[in-house]
Amino acid sequence: MEVERVQEIANFSKETIPEEFIRTTYEQPALTTVQGTVLEVPVIDLSDPDEEKVVRAIVDASSNWGMFQVVNHGIPHETVRKLKEVGKAFFELPPQEKEAYAKSPGSQSIEGYGTKLQREVEGKKAWVDHLFHKIWPPSEINYQFWPKNPPSYRKNNEEYAKHMHGVVDKLFRCLSLGLGLEGNEMKEAMGGDNMVYLLKINYYPQCPQADLALGVPAHTDMSAITILVPNDVQGLQACKDDHWYDVEYIPNALIVHIGDQIEIVSNGKYKSVLHRAKVNKEKTRISWPVFVEPPSDLEVGPHPKLVNEAYPPKFKSKKYSQYCFCKLNKTPQ
Ligand code: OGA
Ligand code: NI
Repeated sequence: MEVERVQEIANFSKETIPEEFIRTTYEQPALTTVQGTVLEVPVIDLSDPDEEKVVRAIVDASSNWGMFQVVNHGIPHETVRKLKEVGKAFFELPPQEKEAYAKSPGSQSIEGYGTKLQREVEGKKAWVDHLFHKIWPPSEINYQFWPKNPPSYRKNNEEYAKHMHGVVDKLFRCLSLGLGLEGNEMKEAMGGDNMVYLLKINYYPQCPQADLALGVPAHTDMSAITILVPNDVQGLQACKDDHWYDVEYIPNALIVHIGDQIEIVSNGKYKSVLHRAKVNKEKTRISWPVFVEPPSDLEVGPHPKLVNEAYPPKFKSKKYSQYCFCKLNKTPQ
């Protein structure tokens, strides 16, 4: 079956876009974004030696926003630059070269190059193509889905994965301490060193009717946390108190999203953030989220130390794979 890539559609859509990409007025970004506010998602300096201060900032951001940006995070800027360079180069290959990595229709795995097939509610489609593959742990990696071109794709992605551990560990430690748990308990609840890092590259081509379309509709991530780096084209939005705000990019920051699994383990103290992505009229947006997830067969539920008679569990415990199945099929959790 021929799948139509948004990148191809963009090449021949010079003034208008096909109707299925036009959002209802409830979703159109131009109509639903708070204009001209200075409200910004918190920016946290991870190198601050005052750990209590960092913990307080992370607790505050994770409880009120579910999203924050971190600076001085320890991943060399050059490593991030090289990750982005090879990802962009992959999407700039001719279509047939990219199709060699296409997800086969009917495949159970999320990995591979693709375009979301099924339409969303109201029959709408998102203005984006993507590539998914795991980057950690080595035992979970399937190199079949890693582009061989450009040749440094593998090295640059491995380098990024290696440097991510420091940030991930620090974030989980702070999130854990912020709940009154031991520093390692949050990470352990997510599978410890067996946590999976799933990289996605979102490729949002320029869109002549950018005000009417969305790159990714409103959602929360299923992951524990998501760590995202964007190219320099703005577009990520976060929802706070029922209003949509642009997330202003800070140079060299990583954007951290609290995902559903952290909300569950924290028994609702931390909130997974509702977010979406706009597209741009003149420029291609690209983003690289890494979904840090529990292993699929790990059972995740509110942490036993956080529930008691006064604080009953607000979520069911279930295997991560089961959680994802329910969410993707829109059946109750
Ligand atoms: C996602 C996502 C936002 C962005 O892929 O889950 O929320 O800025 N992406 O690309
Ligand atoms: Ni997301």
